[in-house]
Amino acid sequence: MRFGPTIIAQAEALAALTERPGMLARSYLTPQHRRAGEQIRAWMREAGMQADFDALGNVVGRYAGSKPGAPMVMTGSHMDTVVNAGKYDGIFGVLAPIACVAALHREGKRLAFPIEVVAFGDEEGVRFGTSMMGSKALSGHFDDAVLDSRDAQGVALRDALRDFGGDAAAIAGLRRRPEQIRVYVETHIEQGPVLLQEGLPVGVVTAIAGSSRVRVQVRGEEGHAGTVPMALRHDALAAASEMVLALERHCRATDGRVVGTVGKLAVADGGAINVIPGLVEFTVDMRSGDDATRRRAVAETQAMFRELAGARGVALEWTPLQELGAAPCDASEQESLARAIEAHGIAVRRLPSGAGHDAMQFSGVAPIAMLFVRCGNGGISHSPRETLAAEDAEVATAVLLRYLEGLA
Ligand code: GLV
Ligand code: MN
Ligand code: MN
Repeated sequence: MRFGPTIIAQAEALAALTERPGMLARSYLTPQHRRAGEQIRAWMREAGMQADFDALGNVVGRYAGSKPGAPMVMTGSHMDTVVNAGKYDGIFGVLAPIACVAALHREGKRLAFPIEVVAFGDEEGVRFGTSMMGSKALSGHFDDAVLDSRDAQGVALRDALRDFGGDAAAIAGLRRRPEQIRVYVETHIEQGPVLLQEGLPVGVVTAIAGSSRVRVQVRGEEGHAGTVPMALRHDALAAASEMVLALERHCRATDGRVVGTVGKLAVADGGAINVIPGLVEFTVDMRSGDDATRRRAVAETQAMFRELAGARGVALEWTPLQELGAAPCDASEQESLARAIEAHGIAVRRLPSGAGHDAMQFSGVAPIAMLFVRCGNGGISHSPRETLAAEDAEVATAVLLRYLEGLA
């Protein structure tokens, strides 16, 4: 195998760069982000690229092409992770193209176009709530207002970026113009069971589901757990619990057209065993392949929450954090990926992505394409139980290389 074992070993090495002992958690603008970026930069340079951090903490590697002025092929994914993450979500899409460029470099080969490999600093949005900040900047969608968002410790993004060595004033200059990008292509672990069930190592993504993220605050009235009669309580956690279940019921009733998740929920100050919860905050993440369907479901959810809050005499604050429209993959790039897959004697499976990806940010800016690689272990992801076989990493990287060579 030319690529697989190296990529798996590299992913393993990066998984050691974590903020939390005993699990992989690497969020944006942390010392672990810095060290992962330095390691990736070193691998990019070894592969023959010019590489460095940019003003937002993305690591960008560039492998020049042979034809002057040709628009680039941009490829990459993210180097941040969720809390208690798997080792391949995001990083595989950084390591596979580095391996492709390394192979070209070893053979002394240049393609007609430059290749930019980007390791985005933030995709998951774990630390500041807003996701895909790196790809938003490069695609021209960065909103300076997010510089004022704060992490759980109250640190503003603006300050964290400065301490990291970034430069908020230079973010606007990171934007690539549409005519500079021939295609944005991302390789990613599927994070689901479809390819696994069908016995296929890779697949072509047809579209990426859109998503809405909301922060919900429920304010009731704290009180003594022993003295306040049940009928007189305004328990914020009991109200929030009804909302969580209402969201689940609502999404279940859509027959898979909308999915909804409360992934984070906290009683203010951690709560106490003998205090009626007065303030609860939770997040809502809702997704669909169809934007109108998602927006309708979000509005219905907000209305349901208001009704539940009213019935319990608690106040509801609904703060939208992010709206990402669904992103179709370019039809002709899907064909090119399909041809590269067929050239390896593999049947072509097309499938949508329920997970969000940096590629979404380039939708409407450049043609986007995505190659999925099979996720092992039942297809589980956003979990330390996520697995990727070296053989599958090998095939996906070889397909990506063939696709890139085909574009030339
Ligand atoms: C990214 O992993 C997302 O889809 O939330
Ligand atoms: Mn993820
Ligand atoms: Mn990812």
